[in-house]
Amino acid sequence: MYSIAIDGPAGSGKSTVAKQIAKKLGILYIDTGAMYRTVGLYCLENNIDLSDEKKINTILPKINMKIELLEGKQEIYLNGEKVTEKIRTQEAGKAASDVAVIFSVREKLVQIQRDLAQGHSVIMDGRDIGTNVLPNATVKIYLDASVEERTKRRCNELKWLGKNYDAERIKLEIIERDKNDKNRKYNPLKKAKDATLLDTSSMNIEQVVNKILEIIKRKIEIL
Ligand code: DC
Repeated sequence: MYSIAIDGPAGSGKSTVAKQIAKKLGILYIDTGAMYRTVGLYCLENNIDLSDEKKINTILPKINMKIELLEGKQEIYLNGEKVTEKIRTQEAGKAASDVAVIFSVREKLVQIQRDLAQGHSVIMDGRDIGTNVLPNATVKIYLDASVEERTKRRCNELKWLGKNYDAERIKLEIIERDKNDKNRKYNPLKKAKDATLLDTSSMNIEQVVNKILEIIKRKIEIL
């Protein structure tokens, strides 16, 4: 059994490559950002101020999150409602980043993440996987890419979905999200000392997937 931790900023390509690797290796994919997004969505839908830590502490027990894992796919339910697609908005992403600074939120979600990883080979992506959730992961990867490249990827995604966008605004949102995720008090985004840094700015998805598979195979062979 082994575990792979993939961390990196918004738009670095974590989830796309992690899903493909999970399928290729026949292991479970765990998307931890989706869990923060689900808490963010609950707050948005219930008009809870995202910076009201006291209020969020009291409503947390009301958030019942259920996660179904398949190879390369994760479904997430919020109090019985499937929200896998609903949480994939810019607004929910921003709300996720805001609630992720709160200690009680992190404590609850990290526990769920560790429980899910128990007894399986997994690839898990997020911001604090190599540094906090799975500190003994077999392989740790830190994916990065320039702000310009991440902006371009996000715009292409929106174009592909047929949605309107303002590239300058997307860029500012990415900068803001980086700032929030890297500077929070509890388990901020940073590269674990023993993680391999991969700058994907000039790589395509296939190249990133192959590079990570190479690193995993090398590591597992010597274990
Ligand atoms: O990966 P994502 O865009 O779905 O994550 C949304 C937000 O959730 C991200 O900006 C910060 C937070 N997050 C976190 O704090 N820790 C994680 N392990 C995963 C996500």
